[in-house]
Amino acid sequence: MSNNEHFGSKIGAIAALAGSAIGLGNIWKFPYLTGENGGAAFILIYIACICFIGIPIMLAEFSIGRRGGKDVYGTFKKLAPNTKWSAFSIITVCTSAVILSYYGTIAGWTMHYMCISFTDAFQNATPASVEQLFTEFTSNPYHPVVWQILFMIVTAAVIIGGVKNGIERSSKVMMPILFIILIILCFRSLTINEHSIDGLAFLFKPNLEVVSAKTFMAAMGQAFFSLSVGMGVIMTYGAYVKKNENIHQMAYQVVLSDTIVAILAGIAILPATFAFGMAPNAGPGLVFLTLPQVFAQMPLGQLWSFIFFLLLILAALTSSISLLEVTVAYFINELKMKRVTATIITTIIISIVGVFTTIAFGPLKDTTLFGMNIFDIMDFTASNILLPLGGILICYFAGWVLGKDSLRDEITNGNKLKITLFGFYFFIMRYVAPVVVLLLMLNGLGIFN
Ligand code: PHE
Repeated sequence: MSNNEHFGSKIGAIAALAGSAIGLGNIWKFPYLTGENGGAAFILIYIACICFIGIPIMLAEFSIGRRGGKDVYGTFKKLAPNTKWSAFSIITVCTSAVILSYYGTIAGWTMHYMCISFTDAFQNATPASVEQLFTEFTSNPYHPVVWQILFMIVTAAVIIGGVKNGIERSSKVMMPILFIILIILCFRSLTINEHSIDGLAFLFKPNLEVVSAKTFMAAMGQAFFSLSVGMGVIMTYGAYVKKNENIHQMAYQVVLSDTIVAILAGIAILPATFAFGMAPNAGPGLVFLTLPQVFAQMPLGQLWSFIFFLLLILAALTSSISLLEVTVAYFINELKMKRVTATIITTIIISIVGVFTTIAFGPLKDTTLFGMNIFDIMDFTASNILLPLGGILICYFAGWVLGKDSLRDEITNGNKLKITLFGFYFFIMRYVAPVVVLLLMLNGLGIFN
């Protein structure tokens, strides 16, 4: 049963948690959001969101998870018996299905791009040729679906292995490889030619003129998404962390590695983009449309392309397993299923939702709402509504339901650890985060316009 499962070691737990946080959000999304939102100004606001909102929410979710020691539903049932709080788990299960469905789409594209790296697909690439390659592939009704399902099968295979032998073991292997590849790519990107440095300037010289309410919303949504908070992943993994571990320190290690990887991904991608005179604001297509042209112009480009897309797959996989585990843990504990059965059933359901997201670029491309296709709707709903909403509820629960004493007891391991900033975190959880996140969320939805 999953509530008896634990991570075997501290380093394994950190690898799994950091693996969840570090994902497509860091390598695919962060560089293009930075490119679209004015570079360094966005990064500064993003870091402020991480420090003042992200860290307290992560601590709240982590503490609730470890104190409850069960899946999301079981945890709320245990910590707030005879209340409606356990119904919150329905939102988390839906959120994980929504995110995983479009995560699988991008991860599937990535697997395809990795496989074609060694063909001549990107040779002599021009803007028109990469665009054609991308559109032809993503709009095909079958190919991207096959890749997406393949990715889901790999994710399920890890989850079937369980907490220690599946999640922890795979993260301990994949995370170091990911760091090494990323650092190599940073060196390569910075040494292409004299224009690489323009990419660095774009990343680190703030241009405050471009900042608007939209920038804050984008930064906050990204902070939630990137840290994997607001939907029960940290709660579910928190339940697998042993009682004597220092979760305050672990939360910092996870947040720090997540932020470092996002910035390194910016360094690996944007200087290369500038070196070849390409615009940084290509949006979600940045890594699929711009980078193939960059690789085409680099010596050993095929190899660099392969390495880059491999990096993206590893990052995606360590996150997708955490998303699937939320639902699987729920099925195991509450519906008393075996891990294998729970995994197969949830994988099938989420893959079916995912097919719609994937074919949103092909047969369903004209199905839109407010000008967004199904894929954009999923991404927008998850990052800008469901995760912030989850974050508000988690903070409210920590600040008002669980309360100061229980929370302090959990974070300090029964007063054994001294956490100087505890009062500050608690104040944010109780008063600041719910209000600020709500305002930013409503603002992003255009309620105040
Ligand atoms: N944090 C992951 C990323 O950056 C995405 C994710 C969101 C994973 C929510 C789990 C929960 O890609």
